Amino acid sequence: MEHTIYDLVGGEPTIRHLVDVFYRRVEQDAELRVIFPDDLEEGKRWQFLFLVQFFGGPQHYAGERGHPRMKMRHMPFAINRRRRDLWLQYMLEAVDEVGIEEPMRTFMRSYFERASEHMINQDED
Ligand code: HEM
Repeated sequence: MEHTIYDLVGGEPTIRHLVDVFYRRVEQDAELRVIFPDDLEEGKRWQFLFLVQFFGGPQHYAGERGHPRMKMRHMPFAINRRRRDLWLQYMLEAVDEVGIEEPMRTFMRSYFERASEHMINQDED
């Protein structure tokens, strides 16, 4: 057993659960839903593979998709502060619903807070 965040939270099933819970919230929020494509499945899969990789699991995202370049990949979507705050709220709720324990919880929270801030590409409308 390696001591990556990925292993410590329970590996693939936990990350899959996190992505499912997060997307369920996105689907139910009209304000956020508009910037996502009609079919959520592909994006969901990339998000799963990215988070597995980022938290120290298998590097399949890089293998299939190349360098993450997250800011650039988000440029087609209008991300203002309001939407970023909703995104973050749902992700933090998902972390708790899935039951991620400390200290991994704090690590994930800080990462999502910082990285989501960086994804803002529009002034408030
Ligand atoms: C910690 C911050 C974030 C991470 C780690 C993250 C991760 C990802 C990943 C891995 C993808 C798929 C990229 C690919 O095509 O390979 C993605 C797509 C996307 N993200 Fe994010 N994201 C973050 C923040 C945000 C925020 C703040 C928003 C909007 C408020 C957002 C909206 C989207 C949308 C609309 C897509 C496209 C989904 C699709 O094509 O189905 N993301 N994100």
